[in-house]
Amino acid sequence: MPPQPPMLADDLAQIAERSRALILSLQDPGGAYPASPNFSAYRGYSWLRDGSFIADAMSAAGETASASAFFGWCARTLIARAPDIHRIVAAADAGTPVADHEMLPTRFTLDGAAGDTEWWDFQLDGYGLWLWAALTHAERHDLDVTPWRRAIELTVDYLIASWDRPCYDWWEEHVEEVHVSTLGSIEAGLRAAARSELVGPDRRRAAAETADAAARLVRDRGTVDGHLVKWIGSTSVDASLAALIAPLRVVAGDSDLGRATLAELERQLVVDGGAHRFTTDTYYGGGQWPLLSCFIGLAHLDAGDPARARELLAWSAGTVRESGTMPEQVDDHLIDPTFVAEWVERWGPSADPLLWSHAMFLRLAVELDVVTR
Ligand code: BGC
Repeated sequence: MPPQPPMLADDLAQIAERSRALILSLQDPGGAYPASPNFSAYRGYSWLRDGSFIADAMSAAGETASASAFFGWCARTLIARAPDIHRIVAAADAGTPVADHEMLPTRFTLDGAAGDTEWWDFQLDGYGLWLWAALTHAERHDLDVTPWRRAIELTVDYLIASWDRPCYDWWEEHVEEVHVSTLGSIEAGLRAAARSELVGPDRRRAAAETADAAARLVRDRGTVDGHLVKWIGSTSVDASLAALIAPLRVVAGDSDLGRATLAELERQLVVDGGAHRFTTDTYYGGGQWPLLSCFIGLAHLDAGDPARARELLAWSAGTVRESGTMPEQVDDHLIDPTFVAEWVERWGPSADPLLWSHAMFLRLAVELDVVTR
């Protein structure tokens, strides 16, 4: 990116307000947030992961009805799958777990169906994330969310039965591994359930035990040299790990583990404020993702460094296109430019807008008091 003039607080506030408006304008009447309205590979689908973080940002920005509509959509979508969840849990309890392709999907069409396009579907993180985001939203705004109770219970049972299965990570990769970001997402969701009076005492206890087990696995086998790693047994890092510090808060930003993780993410993945996903990323050449810079910014804020958080917000603001939209990634610093052409040929130019990018910008802007809640 060419050198940018210094970003004014008004500019940042304007981008945050435009992000809020864009997300509201694209939310489906049934509550789903599309990942991107126009990108060929995402169009027509809503992800539990993207959607939960989008809803969390909208909730934190005071858009209570929008966030509730998304969680209502999640609840209806999951209750419709109750028979599948019962079967999956029963098979796991019997010691004969179902195959990966029989597990719940990671994304749904906007009306809650499975859709007919192939995807790297078995990902557990989104199930933890919707629990975490929905229950945090209820706590934040003191809401009665009894209509979501059944879906919350089903999700708790699904995660307790499946939490340590290898599955695809946030980026649809390495289905053979147990990913630390996934474990952190599950831990955050189960801890929220264990705190919630909506959930009965036995299930709360079981949720807390599984959350503890996930935390132990991360502490015992998900760290190297004092920092979190990408998957159990790996030595590399992944920018998604910042989410465990904030907004998920399963690792304290000012703990040794939090500080060492942030330092390693900065050292290996952040260039001029722009965060790469991981060092060997080749998706569209492996550019820098504004949503990840914002996650790292949220983590810095949690660790007590608002100045760095603001720099990362300012870098993300610089990714806004002339159309006013924020893309999934920018190509100013690519890890391997030779991979761009094959992705453009396969799916067209990379996603723009990406609602998750706008949401993480809004989330960090709210936390830095750039916009009102
Ligand atoms: C990313 C996922 C994301 C999806 C929709 C994929 O390219 O790897 O993390 O959920 O896009 O935004």
